[in-house]
Formats: sequence, C-alpha cells, structure tokens
Amino acid sequence: MQTERMIELKRIVAADKAAAYSELEAQLRALLAGERDFIANAANTAALLYHTVPGLNWAGFYRLVGEVLLLGPFQGKPACARIPIGSGVCGAAAERRASVRVADCRAFPGHIPCDPASNSELVVPLLQEGRLHGVLDLDSPVRNRFDAADQAGLERLAAVFTAAIDW
Ligand code: SME
Repeated sequence: MQTERMIELKRIVAADKAAAYSELEAQLRALLAGERDFIANAANTAALLYHTVPGLNWAGFYRLVGEVLLLGPFQGKPACARIPIGSGVCGAAAERRASVRVADCRAFPGHIPCDPASNSELVVPLLQEGRLHGVLDLDSPVRNRFDAADQAGLERLAAVFTAAIDW
C-alpha cells in the first residue's frame, strides 16, 4: 500500500493550530486504521508528526518495559535507549503521568541531552484507563517551541495512538 497516496502531508500552520491538529488527528486515524501493532503504528506516527509539525529535530516513542522507558520508533538523531522513570523530561512525564512542556531544556534539572541541538521539548504520557504504556517525545531546536495549543493537540493525537494499539 502506498502511504503517500493515502496521506497528504500538510505542515501545521501557527495561524490556526487547533484546526490544523484536528486535521492531523483525522490523518492519524486513517494512517493507523486496520493495524494494531505497536512498532508499525509508532513508526508511522513518528514519521507523520516529524513531517507535519514544523520545527522538530526529534519525534518518537519510549515504551514502558518494567520500570524503564525503552526507546521505540522515532525520527531524528540516535537517542538514549533506556530512561529510568523519574529521569529527564521523559522520565518526569512518566512519573507524573502528565505532559511536561519545557521551554528551555538546559534549565530543566536532569534533562538528558541526546541531541545538543534540542532547546525545547514536549513529552506526553501514553495513558489508557489509568495505565501507563510509554511516552511520546517531541524535541525542537527552537526555544519555547511548544505552547498550550501544541500540548492540547498532541495530547489528543497521543490518545488516538494509544487507543489504536494492542498493548
Ligand atoms: N531529552 C530527553 C531524552 C530523550 S531524547 O531527547 C530523544 C529527556 O530528557 O527525557
């Protein structure tokens, strides 16, 4: 199946982020329809986000395995494979079971600098009926790249992704 024929990749425009994220949500639902595997769906979701959300240098997943976040499919430079709960921005989002939005990575205590180009970050936990499955991590070289509209939009996308997986 030719994914490019199914999904037209449109970059999100700052002018109407809420509408753009709604359109992206519809694209994500179409992309994931008929597939329930974590690796396949995480790989496609990371690619969709990386190519539609502007100003990213990393977009991908960490999956909770035991007490550790284990690197999953992503787009961007190679990253640390294992992050303990509570470590860095990803570990903080997993521990708090809430999104963590960091305007300046260097100011976040314990930030794990996988790519020194990253200046801001948004991590959304993957939660289903109170159970944590992992996190969605987005990094940007732009300081203060993510606002409340980005957080709200990406939380909806993370919920669509989480519901599309047989965990
Ligand atoms: N910066 C992250 C580590 C993951 S990489 O950015 C892909 C953190 O502090 O959690």
